[in-house]
Amino acid sequence: MDYEERITAAELGEGEYRQEVNLRPQKLDEYIGQKGATDNLKVFIEAAKLRNEPLDHVLFYGPPGLGKTTLAGIIANEMGVDIRITSGPAIERAGDLAAILTNLNENDVLFIDEIHRLNRSVEEVLYSAMEDFALDIIIGKGPSARSIRLDIARFTLIGATTRAGSLSAPLRDRFGVNCKFEMYDRDELALIIQRTADILGVKTDESSIKEMARRSRGTPRIANRLLKRVRDFSQVKGDGNINIDITKEALKALGVDDMGLENLDREILRMIIDRFGGGPVGIDTIAASIGEERVTIEDVYEPYLIQAGFLHRTQKGRVVSKKAYEHLGIEYSDEEEKEREEQISISISD
Ligand SMILES: Nc1ncnc2c1ncn2[C@@H]1O[C@H](COP(=O)(O)OP(=O)(O)O)[C@@H](O)[C@H]1O
Ligand SMILES: [Mg+2]
Repeated sequence: MDYEERITAAELGEGEYRQEVNLRPQKLDEYIGQKGATDNLKVFIEAAKLRNEPLDHVLFYGPPGLGKTTLAGIIANEMGVDIRITSGPAIERAGDLAAILTNLNENDVLFIDEIHRLNRSVEEVLYSAMEDFALDIIIGKGPSARSIRLDIARFTLIGATTRAGSLSAPLRDRFGVNCKFEMYDRDELALIIQRTADILGVKTDESSIKEMARRSRGTPRIANRLLKRVRDFSQVKGDGNINIDITKEALKALGVDDMGLENLDREILRMIIDRFGGGPVGIDTIAASIGEERVTIEDVYEPYLIQAGFLHRTQKGRVVSKKAYEHLGIEYSDEEEKEREEQISISISD
């Protein structure tokens, strides 16, 4: 199945953006979870406002759909400034970035999504912009070329990335605040689903919400999407209210299992079991066997499989856990268990 078509794809599908805007919380108080990040940000925002300065540059990292873009918008709201949203791949030339930067007002927020995908020459413009709020512009060519320095407004850069590891050191070092986004627990997801149901005006109940929360892979975007699809089922096959029977029926029809896994997730686990005796196996081999790109496996599928305890990352490669065997209904052989346990015990914690 195409990644974009997956019901549990955490990336934003086309046409979803507009609707998502209404679902995005606008204030820190409405933002559920990520307490580690938001409690600190609250203090930094307050302090910056007191000094009438821009907030220090902030780097957000973590898997898609966890609320990075949303939190960037909230920061701008709380600071009472405008936000300009762009992304790494969208800024092709240094001049494009210069144009954006010279149009910012004092204390504004510039949000660059997928900041690890900025190209080198663009990234270099950012260095002096972030550090000195200045642009070094080269005028002319050859021997008569000269560089002039142009001041820009003091602004806050918020960068978001799924992979902090692929940011260059000079860029990473220029962020004053780093926020790692964690997957949400079921109670938090339940609150998010309830909030979205209220906004959409759909009636639901506690057990349905719990069921959807459990199958949302720790990800608010998936939680909202499941709710919308379950709502579709309830309107077509029921009276428009969501109940547990409709919820289960809908999720089954969508191919989302008890733990929120879809076909490809199960395929990955099954392939490692069938072809590599449960692992360890390298990520490149997994990617090649499944026919997906390595980064997709690493950024999209793996985080939840690891977080939910189905897969372990070890020095020798990925190892499928006993829990995954049980979930898939495959017998787990005790002889190999000891070896696997050893692998898992030297798991690299990330
Ligand atoms: N903490 C949260 N509380 C409520 N809704 C959230 C929260 N985080 C994310 N969402 C919802 O999940 C969706 C995806 O969030 P988004 O900020 O686009 O994620 P990311 O930028 O990390 O991919 C949004 O529609 C938003 O409404
Ligand atoms: Mg985003």
